[in-house]
Amino acid sequence: MLVIRSSRLPPSIISAGGKRLRPGIVLLLSRALSPDGDLSGRHRRLAEITEMIHTASLVHDDVVDEASTRRGVDTVHSRFNHRVAVLAGDFLFAQASWHLANLDNLEVVKLLSRVIMDLADGEVKQGLYRYDTGQSFETYLEKSYCKTASLIANSARAAGVLSGLPEPQLDDLYRFGRQLGLAFQVVDDILDFTGSDQQLGKPAASDLASGYLTAPALYALEERPALAGLIEREFSESGDLDQALELVRSSQAIQRSRALAEGFANEARDALNWLPQSECRSALLALPDFVLSRLY
Ligand code: IPE
Ligand code: IPE
Ligand code: MG
Ligand code: MG
Repeated sequence: MLVIRSSRLPPSIISAGGKRLRPGIVLLLSRALSPDGDLSGRHRRLAEITEMIHTASLVHDDVVDEASTRRGVDTVHSRFNHRVAVLAGDFLFAQASWHLANLDNLEVVKLLSRVIMDLADGEVKQGLYRYDTGQSFETYLEKSYCKTASLIANSARAAGVLSGLPEPQLDDLYRFGRQLGLAFQVVDDILDFTGSDQQLGKPAASDLASGYLTAPALYALEERPALAGLIEREFSESGDLDQALELVRSSQAIQRSRALAEGFANEARDALNWLPQSECRSALLALPDFVLSRLY
């Protein structure tokens, strides 16, 4: 990884690691697409850039969500303050942009710049639809694309650009990343209802409390009309939130969300069928199952 050269950045969010799914995808694609299975320096740099953009988005997301922990450690704003967290996120975005420009590939610069726009757009969309029980499932999927799938889709496509792939295969890489990203977000949204703070390394049961209506809540709204009232009064009466969580957990919503994630994961796998046989191909094809396995 690149060394983050700023004494203002706390080591916590970086050293706490995370799963490093996004750089893993870029590195595996680089090897899978190279005739001799080599990893190129430019792919390695692209992988580092994707993780920097991801980490920046988490630092800002935690400010927006007022989350206390991330990757099992205090969030930047809890450890310092909001000003520091906003600047730390900006610094990471700026550093990623600098290294992106230095890759000297305009198409790749455009793809990853679009991601940074999408991330901001996703946060705004999420904020606009808080506590809105009339929002469509489409809105939720668009928000999920912007906040999560865009980075995975566009960095997979960028890996293909650096490997000199033709357009139809670039589209397949993009589709792989988009469907895997959507599966990943739906799984994260299920875990928010079913996991514990300790398992997740971040506060659980927090989406609904913040008014973020994700797949489980949207499905439960179709089944449990009482849920809408609780959400619309923003859980203002004592016991509202617990009752709402119970309504979601006891409905078919978690099961239906799981089926949705499985559908996205299958589509992601299908998009990479054409890759030549190699260990890296096998690892890439196993990723959709890895994403789903977080549920079990
Ligand atoms: C967290 O992403 C944000 C979502 C897209 C749900 P990850 O779960 O990949 O976070 P880290 O990098 O492993 O901490
Ligand atoms: C994930 O969205 C995408 C980003 C952080 C940009 P979430 O809001 O679901 O992520 P968590 O649950 O806070 O990790
Ligand atoms: Mg969040
Ligand atoms: Mg989440």
